[in-house]
Amino acid sequence: MSRTGYETIKIEREENIAWIILNRPHRLNALNDVMMEELADALITVEKDPGVRCVVITGEGDRAFSAGADITAFPKVTPVLAEEFSRKGQKVFTMIEEMSKPVIAAINGYALGGGLELALACDFRIASEHAELGSPEINLGIIPGWGGTQRLVRIVGLRNAKRLVMLGERIKADEALQIGLVDKVVPFEKLREEAKALAKKFAEGPPIALKYAKYALNFGTQVPLEVGLRLESSLMALLFSTNDVKRGIEAFMSRSKPEFKGD
Ligand code: COA
Repeated sequence: MSRTGYETIKIEREENIAWIILNRPHRLNALNDVMMEELADALITVEKDPGVRCVVITGEGDRAFSAGADITAFPKVTPVLAEEFSRKGQKVFTMIEEMSKPVIAAINGYALGGGLELALACDFRIASEHAELGSPEINLGIIPGWGGTQRLVRIVGLRNAKRLVMLGERIKADEALQIGLVDKVVPFEKLREEAKALAKKFAEGPPIALKYAKYALNFGTQVPLEVGLRLESSLMALLFSTNDVKRGIEAFMSRSKPEFKGD
């Protein structure tokens, strides 16, 4: 299904679930330019593939989901390059947020800086018990630049976001769960299984309704309530033109399980 020959990521397909695996474990899956380009390419590939109904993003190994942007490139960065670097990264992560399919982050270790920002753009976050999360950019004298200041606050609120971004402290998975930064914490050995179970639920769901639900929810965080409500009505109405709504209603009436097909 995918372009072959990625250097820094892998794509694996398991039935109708696509796994995107960040694959620079010796660098704790730090996100360099090549990885960001390959990630963008992989996101386009899975978005276009009608056979993919859910995407899981994770990191290779048991140490890191991603320890963030590759700091080794920073010494040569000028303000102009930094602005471009920030905008490019924001665009890649926005592709995740705007993807028409549910995207799950399976956080298999450190999710720091850009690694956390990547996870924040996903719809759900499942973390391994030993994972540590944080926005340590302040310790380098900068701030998050790939959407962290904006998405973090929407997910965990201003108080928690200020603590993470302004203190730059790492928090453990159980605390991340308490503040709503992750949705579930599981032992490392169970992470893949749990992420797959959740992905399977989405993969069996009605794709068009899931797409509209994701869009309405994300859009609603950015617009006045009345605008969001109007959009909700329109999308809800549009869904009555799908065959999946017929399948859903028929299955309810006959007490069977609906087989949604995405049309
Ligand atoms: N960019 C580039 N390389 C990184 C990296 C990053 N963001 N994070 C880790 N690495 C590299 C390390 O330099 C090291 O490489 P080396 O073996 O060639 O020296 C390797 O990955 C392993 O990391 P190391 O620091 O030795 O592991 P550790 O267990 O001692 O510490 C961390 C783990 C995550 C606490 C530490 O690596 C760290 O603080 N990383 C940077 C996190 C960060 O600030 N991210 C935001 C960037 S804006």
